[in-house]
Amino acid sequence: MMLYVLGPAIGQLINDQIIYNHFFSPLGNIPGPFLAKITTKWLTINECLGNRSLVVARAHERYGPVIRIAPNELSFSDKSCIKDLYGNGVTFPKSPRYDGFRSTTDAAFDMTDHSKSRERRPLIRQVLAPANIDGIEPIISDTVRKSIRWIKRAEDDSLEIVLWMRRIMLDTAGTLFLGRSFNALENEKAPEFFDDLEGFFTINGLRWFAPWILTVLKLLPVRSIQHFLEAQERTYLYGRKAFDEYIKKYGRSSGRMDLLTKMASATNDQTMTDEEIGNELGQMLVGATDPTVIVATWMLWELAQKPEWQHRMRDELRKNSVPFPGGVPSYKDIKQLPILNGFIMEGLRLHPAHSIGLPRIANTDTASIGGIALPKGTTVSAQSRSVHRDPEIYPSPDSFLPERWIDTNGGTKEMKDTLLVFSKGPRACLGQYTAYMELKLVVSTLMHGWELGLARQTTEETMRQKDYFVALTKEGKCRLTVQPVREEKV
Ligand code: HEM
Repeated sequence: MMLYVLGPAIGQLINDQIIYNHFFSPLGNIPGPFLAKITTKWLTINECLGNRSLVVARAHERYGPVIRIAPNELSFSDKSCIKDLYGNGVTFPKSPRYDGFRSTTDAAFDMTDHSKSRERRPLIRQVLAPANIDGIEPIISDTVRKSIRWIKRAEDDSLEIVLWMRRIMLDTAGTLFLGRSFNALENEKAPEFFDDLEGFFTINGLRWFAPWILTVLKLLPVRSIQHFLEAQERTYLYGRKAFDEYIKKYGRSSGRMDLLTKMASATNDQTMTDEEIGNELGQMLVGATDPTVIVATWMLWELAQKPEWQHRMRDELRKNSVPFPGGVPSYKDIKQLPILNGFIMEGLRLHPAHSIGLPRIANTDTASIGGIALPKGTTVSAQSRSVHRDPEIYPSPDSFLPERWIDTNGGTKEMKDTLLVFSKGPRACLGQYTAYMELKLVVSTLMHGWELGLARQTTEETMRQKDYFVALTKEGKCRLTVQPVREEKV
C-alpha cells in the first residue's frame, strides 16, 4: 500500500528534474548556490530583479572561480578561462538568449551562428574600422559641439546625463548609419526612440525568461500596454523606414560613407535583402547608443565625486596646450593623454555596460573550458563584474583608481587581456574605436569648460546598479551640477 502511494510521488519528483539536477547531472560536482543547482528559477528571479551580476559575483566569492548558476549553466571568473570562452578560433556560439533581440531577420548582434556573423561583420567594419576614424570624427565632434548649449542651459540647475548623452549618441548614430541626424539635440522634445530603448531590453528579458507574460499582456486591450509591447519592433522600424526614405532619395550606390550606403551597394556574398538592411540598421541604433550612454553616465558620476581627478585632467589639457575650437578638441590631441585615458579605462573596468556574463552555448559533445568537460547544451559565460575585480590583477578592486592604468602605461598585458568590456574574439564589439573617441571627446569637452558635482537628486540609492542585459541605474537618470570652470581656462 505504502509503495502504491510513494511510487508516483517519487516518480513525480524525478520527473521534476530536481533529483536529477542535484544528484545525477554531469555538472553535479560543480559548486554553486543550492537553489541554482536544482532550478532555473534562482537565476530567473534574480534577473527579473536586476540583480544578476551582483548575486553571481557573490556566488563566485563564496564557491570559487567555476560555479553552477542554473542546472544547465556555468559561470567562470578565472582569467585563464576567457580565451577558451570568447577567444579567437573558439566556437562557442551565442546562446539562444539572443533570439529575444531578433526582429523578422537576424542582425549582427543577435546572430547565434558565428559563420553567418563572419560574413556580416566585414560589411559593418567598412564604416567602423579604425582606418575610417577620420571620417567618423567630424560627425562626433559636430554632435558634441551641438550638445554644449544643453550644458550651458543647465548651469543654473543640473544636467540630466542619461538624456543628454542619448541625444548625442542618437544623432551620431543617425548620421553614421543612416546618413541623417535625428536632430535630437536640436529639438526640445525627446524622441520617442528613447522610450523605446527602455522597452527594448525589458521585452528582450521577458521574451527569454517569461514569454507567457508577453502572451497574457497581448490579450489586454489597454493602449499603453500594447504600445509598450511594440517598443522593440518600433526600434527596428526606425531602421526600415530610414532605409526606404534613403533609397528613394539617393538610390543604391550614391558613394556616401554611411553604413546604409555600404550595405545597399554590397555585392556578391555580402548581399543583404532590404529587410535585413533595415533590421541591421535598427539594431545598430540601439547597440551604438545605449552602451555608450551607460558607460558615460557611470564615468561622469564618478568624476562628479572626484574633484581631484577633474583638476588633474584639466591640468593635463592645459600642459599639452590642447586647442578647443568651438569648445571641442581634435581627437589626435587628446587620444594619447595618459590621465584622460587612465580615467576612461578605469570607468570601463568598474562600470562595464554589460556586467553580466555574455552567454555562449556548448554545441558539441567534446566542448570544454579550463579542463571542465561540458555536456552539449550547457550555457557558459564569464561576467565582467567578477573578472574586472580580480584582486590579483586589480589590487583594491572595488576602488576607482585611474592611476593603475596611468602607472602601467595604459595597462599591463594581463589587464588588457582580461578587460571584457567590449568582449573578445570573433564577436567582440565592432564599435569600440568609435566608443573610445566618443567618450574621450565628451569627457575632455566637459572638463575644459565645466566643474561637475552631484545634484541633490543623485544618491547612492538612485545610482544603484540594475542589470537588464545592460547595467542601468535604478532611476534610469543621473543629475549632475555643471558650473563653468573657475580656474584659468585651458
Ligand atoms: C562604450 C560603448 C560600448 C560598449 C561597452 C560595447 C560593448 C559591446 C559588447 C560587450 C559586445 C558583445 C556583445 C555580446 O557578445 O553579447 C558588443 C557588440 C557589438 N557592438 Fe558594441 N559596445 C559599445 C559601443 C558600440 C558602438 C558605438 C557601436 C557602433 C558604432 C557598437 C557596435 C557593436 C556591434 C555591431 C556588435 C555586434 C558584434 C557581433 O556580435 O559580431 N558598439 N558591444
